Amino acid sequence: MNNIHIAIDGPAGAGKGTVAKELAEKLNLTYLDTGAMYRCVACAAKMAGVKSYDNDSLGKILDDIDITFADSGKKVFLNGEDVTEKIRTREVDDLVGGVSGNKFVRERLVAMQRKYAEGNNIVMEGRDIGTVVLKDSPYKFYLDASVDERAKRRYEQNIKNNIECTLEAVKADIIRRDERDMNREADPLTRTEDALYIDSSDLTVDEVCDVIIAHIGKIKRGEK
Ligand code: DC
Repeated sequence: MNNIHIAIDGPAGAGKGTVAKELAEKLNLTYLDTGAMYRCVACAAKMAGVKSYDNDSLGKILDDIDITFADSGKKVFLNGEDVTEKIRTREVDDLVGGVSGNKFVRERLVAMQRKYAEGNNIVMEGRDIGTVVLKDSPYKFYLDASVDERAKRRYEQNIKNNIECTLEAVKADIIRRDERDMNREADPLTRTEDALYIDSSDLTVDEVCDVIIAHIGKIKRGEK
């Protein structure tokens, strides 16, 4: 029997992580946060004092990197160290674009991500999952929400986690990250015809999961 591979892509703050975790729980799937892997590479480069993101320096980092997950994919370990919080700092936010825009890094991480999927039922979220990593999977989703809604969600999440910020700064940051992820040369975030587009602006997490589960059911029954 074929494994279930669910691809969820979309812009920053669209709720991909929350939805993917919930879906993993409901359908008993492995959850993979691919953004965390790019963040780990940025973090490892910073710890190693790498300033220039050339293929040689990043290649050395990638040769030695060991990224593992625990607690149903919610905890992230970089070379054995729990970096779940460290990879979410502003500093890593600022550094990760340089890493995720590098074609060489992407090739290596995509290979690792495909390995995770091999023989596993998995839900993966990121920017290039349906277009690159799991491009042969029939279960592809593009999760979106208005910029204002995404900014509001991120702002509330930050306040809950005691991260100081203003709504205006969060919104500006989201717009900057969208621009970067959608316009880079290497595997940009793209909305494609074969992915079901879901605008989650007015939907709860459960409602988004219901839409996804219903769509998978239709594909399985050959109705799509
Ligand atoms: O989803 P996130 O904010 O944790 O992602 C961190 C960075 O990695 C962001 O610049 C987008 C990028 N990314 C990517 O290019 N491809 C992925 N599959 C996942 C994330």
